[in-house]
Amino acid sequence: MEKLKVTGGCRLAGEVKISGAKNAALPILAASLLTAEDLVLHNVPRLSDIRTMNKLLAGLGTTVDCQDETVILNAKNLTTLEAPYDLVKTMRASILVLGPMLARYGEARVSLPGGCAIGARPVDQHIKGLQAMGADVHIEHGYVVAKGRLKGAHIVTDVVTVGGTENLMMAATLAEGVTILENAAREPEVVDLANCLIAMGAKIKGAGTPVIEIEGVPALHGAEYSVLPDRIEAGSFLVAALMTQGDVTVTHVAPHTLDIVMDKLREAGGIVECGEDWIRARIDHRPKAVSVRTVPHPGFPTDMQAQFMALNCIAEGTGRITETIFENRFMHVPELQRLGANISVDGHTAVVTGVESLSSANLMATDLRASASLVMAALVANGTSIVDRIYHLDRGYDHMELKLSKLGAKIERIS
Ligand code: UD1
Repeated sequence: MEKLKVTGGCRLAGEVKISGAKNAALPILAASLLTAEDLVLHNVPRLSDIRTMNKLLAGLGTTVDCQDETVILNAKNLTTLEAPYDLVKTMRASILVLGPMLARYGEARVSLPGGCAIGARPVDQHIKGLQAMGADVHIEHGYVVAKGRLKGAHIVTDVVTVGGTENLMMAATLAEGVTILENAAREPEVVDLANCLIAMGAKIKGAGTPVIEIEGVPALHGAEYSVLPDRIEAGSFLVAALMTQGDVTVTHVAPHTLDIVMDKLREAGGIVECGEDWIRARIDHRPKAVSVRTVPHPGFPTDMQAQFMALNCIAEGTGRITETIFENRFMHVPELQRLGANISVDGHTAVVTGVESLSSANLMATDLRASASLVMAALVANGTSIVDRIYHLDRGYDHMELKLSKLGAKIERIS
């Protein structure tokens, strides 16, 4: 199993190119199932989650041609409408093939994703929405089995769900009539999916607001589309810049997707500037601890929670981190404590009082964003740390160790 060997104490400085957003690319890849024509995607990040989605689509009969960060998909001749457990269990986002397959073919069988490390994460809202659109959906042998021709409907989800909004929006593009999605997720990745669907001929209004209106069309056509930059990858490098008292510019980013993160970096004492497609963050003293509460977009993203906790570990003062989206997203806490962090957890809130310095340790990554926070903490710990189980990191960060090395970190991948 691969690990990262990280020697702390180096200041990060320089420029780093940010990859395409994993969470935008995954639903957009699934959207290829909505058309018989080619979908040509650029700026697709090279990540294991993307490979999993491509494998799933290829297993359904889609031709998937990957050339560096460009992926060309064609779902003209699907050979099966079943997404098997083996692939779905490794990545929850596999459920995103349900809406498109059902909408285009009138049936689909997709394994239930099951639990995951950060919480139960049910898909009841996806199912409820498809049922409202007239589908017959039931659970059979661990699979969601859905049948029927979809009709437009007025759907109000009980919770704000990113994946649910995306699945239902894709399904509605080919439904008969108009669908209104209320309480919709407003994440930039939802907007990016909507923009790609519009490029494919879909009629969608209101993406990025809580109410999305989709007028179904008989068929979608092929398109060429470039995926939005990854705001979480960018945010992680910017936090690491402040933690190491460095000066980092992230390039190829969409700054408007990082407003709240930039605010928090400034609150931490960072000098943050941005241009059309870059953000620079620097600091020449110890950062100040910040308090954050995770909420759906445009609030503070849960996917940046662990990284800001790592910052608080070595900051001046005390910060409160409250997680409201996932019930079990503090698994990085015991690992950060092994580095000497002062953290106490009370329910959904972690109170972190910064210490002058952390000391290296052997660490175990537990989920994707937790892994990033451990690497970042190891970058400022005295001595050499080993971060194990980095397959979690590879799910969502495109060659993180190479990008960090270029910025001056002492980090290498070992077997
Ligand atoms: C997506 C992101 C993930 C991010 C999360 C929240 C992708 C591939 N992943 O995950 O990185 O952390 O949004 O911003 O885009 N819920 C239900 N019923 C449902 C669906 C969700 O109760 O049918 C709950 C979940 O358990 C969770 C909350 O709603 O507590 C938000 O989940 P959701 O927004 O759906 O997350 P994902 O789309 O899985």
